[in-house]
Amino acid sequence: MDRETVEPQVEALPGERAQRWVDFHHEFAAPSTYVYEFVWDTSREAIGPFCTDVDGNVLLDFTSHVAAAPLGYNNPVVREKLEEFDLVDPLKIAGQDFYVSTDGAEPPADAELPGPSQLMDRLVAATDHYDMDRVFLSNSGAEAVENGIKICYAAGGHRAFTFDGAFHGRTLGALSLNRSKTVHRRGYPEVPGVVSVPYPGSEAAYENRWLTDGPGGNVVADKLHPEQGVIDPDEVAFLILEPIQGEGGYRVAHDEFARDLEALRERYDLKVVVDEIQSGVGRTGELWAVDHLDLTPDVITAGKGLRVGATISRSDVFPEQKSRLSSTWGAGDIIASMQGALTLDVIHEQNLLSNVLERGQQLRSGLEDAIEDGDLPGAVDVRGRGLMLAVEFDTKERRDAVLEASFKRGFLTLGCGHKTLRLLPPLDVTEREIDLGLRLLQEAVADVAPNFD
Ligand SMILES: Cc1ncc(COP(=O)(O)O)c(C=O)c1O
Repeated sequence: MDRETVEPQVEALPGERAQRWVDFHHEFAAPSTYVYEFVWDTSREAIGPFCTDVDGNVLLDFTSHVAAAPLGYNNPVVREKLEEFDLVDPLKIAGQDFYVSTDGAEPPADAELPGPSQLMDRLVAATDHYDMDRVFLSNSGAEAVENGIKICYAAGGHRAFTFDGAFHGRTLGALSLNRSKTVHRRGYPEVPGVVSVPYPGSEAAYENRWLTDGPGGNVVADKLHPEQGVIDPDEVAFLILEPIQGEGGYRVAHDEFARDLEALRERYDLKVVVDEIQSGVGRTGELWAVDHLDLTPDVITAGKGLRVGATISRSDVFPEQKSRLSSTWGAGDIIASMQGALTLDVIHEQNLLSNVLERGQQLRSGLEDAIEDGDLPGAVDVRGRGLMLAVEFDTKERRDAVLEASFKRGFLTLGCGHKTLRLLPPLDVTEREIDLGLRLLQEAVADVAPNFD
């Protein structure tokens, strides 16, 4: 497969073999968020955003496995190391390992096959500008959040702030912070003391829903106000936010809102947990989406593209006592940690942050121009940063139809919010691939337009 020339080629989706795989899966799998009737064939050709399915269809994937594969399919650097790795056994080990060694691999920081310790070393370097020096690795994004809020609770306080539209994971602690869809939370018990407030993802929302005439001047400052407030700042363990809300519909935190939070953080010594599970690891053109804002995180939670969960913070925030945090399989998967570490290396060595900014701009202007020229009927807004972009449609029905029509053309996209379509190409996506995605999206929108006239 030549990445410079390949194009999606589809006979029928899902094809006959894919359908059999999907049926088999559903015989045993509990209902979950199964996004596509798409079955990637790992034995067939795939590169960058292109892959081949079990029926031989070639697809253009702008989901990057829900941002969990930031380098797309078969990145040569990662692949080469994975091929060396069959020498190491066991591949998944119990406990927080600090041993991954091969002949002559010294010193540890330069280990040829980077493991969990090297991944943590790289994460500390990547958060040095926030004075972070400690990492706790786990198995998923939800666990990264769970441990992030635990260390804040351990430091004191039993109340917390979250934001309307938030999504932080599915474990009960993380779930208690979610405010995006009722289906996630309905009927499940909650961690007490969590207060939700509006998330200003636009100028209008900042002015109309965040700023107030109250004593503090914004909704959180009002609640914490020493005389007229209703929450004692000393009781607040943390405030958690996504710099760009993912599930909530790709809403970008307003700059002034971030500055207001920074002022509150300083005034009341609040701990700010920034959830970078979807927006981090280079997706927005900075390593962390919070780097675009004037806000200092005390804890960063990361996952997806790192292939493990990571709770990153300072030594003074993590509890000192042993056994306050732990997990049998916490970062025990050597291959996953290695992929995370190599992903960070490739982002730096191949200067992918600049590529994200350039290609993100190309995709954004392509979408905006198409809306202006009437070539994306029903599209009402383009949001996001870098290569974390989304198009909002006028109705959920149209969004769903566009998603399905894109799929039928071999173009993989994802929904988010209620009527928004997200586009998450790999971070090394090329100009030609973005043009291809734009063309396929326009064709899909045109396919369904007659049903919505
Ligand atoms: C912002 C955010 N936080 C937390 C999570 C949960 O991560 P995981 O699904 O790995 O548990 C997600 C997953 O989509 C996410 O987007």
